[in-house]
Amino acid sequence: SYEKIWLVVAILLIVGFISTVTYGATAVGIDMVDDEGGTVNASALDEDPRFSEPRVEQVGDNEYEAYVIAQQYIFNPDPIRVPANSTVTFFITSPDVIHGFEIVGTNANTMVIPGQVAKITVNFNDPGEYGIVCHEYCGSGHHTMEGSVVVQ
Ligand code: CUA
Repeated sequence: SYEKIWLVVAILLIVGFISTVTYGATAVGIDMVDDEGGTVNASALDEDPRFSEPRVEQVGDNEYEAYVIAQQYIFNPDPIRVPANSTVTFFITSPDVIHGFEIVGTNANTMVIPGQVAKITVNFNDPGEYGIVCHEYCGSGHHTMEGSVVVQ
């Protein structure tokens, strides 16, 4: 009968709708975090080999690694000093709340999430001072949260 057909069609539509939603959620995922840099215990950064001493390390001829802590309301170290024509990989994490890390005038732009290590690599060819700004609202001092990269 027509009633039976419509009932089946309605059920198929519902099943199809539910599986589309489920598939969409699992296939697309909500994984905004670039996990290349790995994870870290946000409440024990002082015991972490990468973050116990925020610093810039030379790791190759023109290659540097910067271990940076973003916290209310500073970036450490500040300034980050590197020579001109260097490639710098930044590892950035936060002990408190979500911050942003944007190097003005470059394409470096990431969220900094407690427990996660953001990793971005930037080439600095020209000497100069590049501002770092926090572009995620992180509290009353957010607008004052700035740092810099000094390329010499
Ligand atoms: Cu840190 Cu806004």
